[in-house]
Amino acid sequence: MKILSKGASKLWLAGWLMAFTILSGNSISSETTDIEREYMPNDPKLCLMCHGADSDHPAESVMHSVHGQSSSENTPFSTNQQGCQSCHGPSASHLKLVNGVRPPPAMVFNSDQPAQQRDEVCLDCHQDTAGHYWAGSAHEFSQQGCTSCHTIHQEDDAMKKFVQLNNQCMDCHQRQRAQIMRPSSHPLRSGHMNCIDCHSPHGGPGPAELKAFTLNEQCLDCHAEKRGPFLWEHAPVTEDCSSCHTPHGSNHNALLNARTPFLCQQCHQAAFHPSNQESGTGIPPRGASSNLLGKDCMNCHSQVHGSNHPSGSGLTR
Ligand code: HEC
Ligand code: HEC
Ligand code: HEC
Ligand code: HEC
Ligand code: HEC
Ligand code: HEC
Ligand code: HEC
Ligand code: HEC
Ligand code: HEC
Ligand code: HEC
Repeated sequence: MKILSKGASKLWLAGWLMAFTILSGNSISSETTDIEREYMPNDPKLCLMCHGADSDHPAESVMHSVHGQSSSENTPFSTNQQGCQSCHGPSASHLKLVNGVRPPPAMVFNSDQPAQQRDEVCLDCHQDTAGHYWAGSAHEFSQQGCTSCHTIHQEDDAMKKFVQLNNQCMDCHQRQRAQIMRPSSHPLRSGHMNCIDCHSPHGGPGPAELKAFTLNEQCLDCHAEKRGPFLWEHAPVTEDCSSCHTPHGSNHNALLNARTPFLCQQCHQAAFHPSNQESGTGIPPRGASSNLLGKDCMNCHSQVHGSNHPSGSGLTR
């Protein structure tokens, strides 16, 4: 009778576990369903016994990082938290062998666990700083979770070392690595500027995860002298700096998309004066076309970003 009821209750438990696994869409594999997920005390020493500096899987360095500070509030090691288990989840069963196998902690941050599930651990504490635009951002959408950039088990987080930062971004963004090597670029190569001067790694309100709401706002943040309003404005400037400039690097001077006059002629094909520079008729002694000899549009239309001169309607002064 007693034996029967024990067996029955085991069946009952297995049934529930199965139902729970199916209903919750949980990805815990079948071998681990019968592991009881319980927290052990918040004492890193219990983990570092096996994960000390000399072990095969060292983890001690995390204690020297920001997360290891137990004095500041709400770090994983403050008294109201679970220590290593704040990130790795309930780990009591990890301490003993079950049938010769050591069940891993609930969260090991490897690719078997969906990025979203991994990120939730971090967002539990960082919703306010990193979570604002995270959902639906390019990195979230493409499964590049928090730990594709942040290195939790290093004393200094990789993202805090600004010289390294650009390189780490460009490890994945090879096209930008090529672009910033071009003759004209923002000072990204030297590390005087960073990718995150313009982009928000956690997702931003603007296009291409820019920190500002629009591309122009982003540029004008630093190039305020181009903001205007001008007495005489040049429509493409107020509309979109990228109609003439490219942000990461260009083979033409001043980060231009094309050389002048070709740049200008993309939009001004039939200007008030002949914009075709190639005609031979304006060459002395057959005549002298100032438009031709003046060569570049910029020699006359120097105020291409806008003019405040009373007679600057042609952007010439
Ligand atoms: C009794 C020794 C021991 C203790 C105590 C211990 N671990 Fe481990 N841990 C191991 C061993 C051994 C491995 C390697 C397992 C393997 O290779 O399958 C490991 C692996 C891990 C891994 C990597 C798992 C994976 O699959 O990649 C994590 C994360 C981990 N331990 C976290 C912890 C945490 C957190 C604690 C404290 C709550 C802890 N460990 C306590 C022995 C221990
Ligand atoms: C703030 C979150 C966080 C805390 C706290 C934390 N870890 Fe980790 N741990 C991670 C992440 C994320 C990884 C995945 C690898 C990486 O990104 O560095 C990891 C990986 C590991 C690994 C696998 C390393 C390997 O060589 O494969 C072990 C072991 C481990 N942690 C043990 C611990 C122990 C022990 C503690 C407590 C002393 C601890 N962790 C505290 C987030 C954390
Ligand atoms: C239990 C809460 C908690 C968890 C879980 C947690 N963090 Fe933190 N984290 C903190 C606290 C507290 C700080 C201290 C900085 C502060 O004042 O905000 C911090 C700081 C940081 C910093 C700033 C690093 C620096 O050098 O200034 C980064 C980046 C970070 N966490 C990323 C992560 C990532 C990624 C994860 C998930 C793997 C994670 N955190 C999990 C509480 C947590
Ligand atoms: C594409 C790379 C990248 C990804 C992905 C990423 N971060 Fe960051 N994170 C950064 C960079 C770069 C900084 C440094 C920003 C700064 O100092 O202004 C940073 C800063 C932080 C900080 C410190 C913020 C502060 O104001 O001090 C926290 C906390 C943080 N990240 C948490 C997270 C969490 C949580 C996730 C996942 C939801 C995440 N990060 C994903 C690159 C990334
Ligand atoms: C001066 C501001 C600025 C800096 C610095 C900057 N970007 Fe951009 N980035 C932009 C703008 C603006 C766009 C949108 C381009 C467009 O729509 O024409 C963009 C677009 C992108 C895109 C989307 C792909 C594309 O070409 O449209 C990626 C990826 C990117 N940047 C990565 C980076 C990386 C990596 C760095 C650091 C090496 C970086 N950016 C530095 C302004 C900047
Ligand atoms: C682990 C690889 C990885 C790292 C590291 C990484 N990214 Fe990305 N990033 C991606 C992927 C994948 C996408 C989405 C596909 C795409 O647009 O290229 C993306 C998208 C972007 C976009 C948006 C592109 C668009 O079209 O809207 C920007 C901007 C960007 N990343 C900037 C950065 C910056 C800045 C850093 C460094 C702080 C960084 N990334 C680090 C992989 C990475
Ligand atoms: C974080 C500040 C910052 C932002 C944002 C910024 N720039 Fe710059 N820009 C600079 C700095 C710094 C230089 C280099 C000035 C120098 O070398 O004297 C520069 C130089 C330039 C140059 C001249 C390059 C050359 O080779 O002469 C152009 C053109 C330019 N930026 C356009 C833009 C555009 C377009 C945007 C918006 C997509 C933008 N900038 C956003 C800081 C910024
Ligand atoms: C109609 C094309 C066009 C548009 C749109 C445009 N620019 Fe320019 N920009 C130029 C040209 C051409 C030069 C080169 C000037 C020279 O060679 O003297 C230049 C040069 C620059 C320079 C470097 C030299 C200087 O004058 O300081 C900066 C910075 C700059 N532009 C920023 C911007 C910003 C910010 C925007 C958007 C608000 C913008 N540009 C929109 C055509 C344009
Ligand atoms: C993306 C398209 C575009 C590009 C590229 C462009 N412009 Fe313009 N430009 C315009 C538009 C639109 C107007 C306004 C036309 C109107 O109001 O009828 C304009 C007006 C002008 C005017 C006349 C202002 C007036 O009072 O009518 C001049 C001069 C001018 N552009 C010069 C240039 C020069 C020089 C360049 C090259 C550095 C250039 N533009 C590149 C679109 C462009
Ligand atoms: C030798 C000087 C000179 C050169 C070179 C020059 N322009 Fe002009 N452009 C002028 C003058 C002068 C005006 C009349 C300005 C005014 O009304 O104040 C003018 C007017 C314009 C206008 C306004 C037309 C209208 O209907 O009001 C446009 C657009 C223009 N130029 C585009 C260009 C482009 C594009 C180039 C290069 C392919 C160029 N210009 C080269 C001197 C020049």
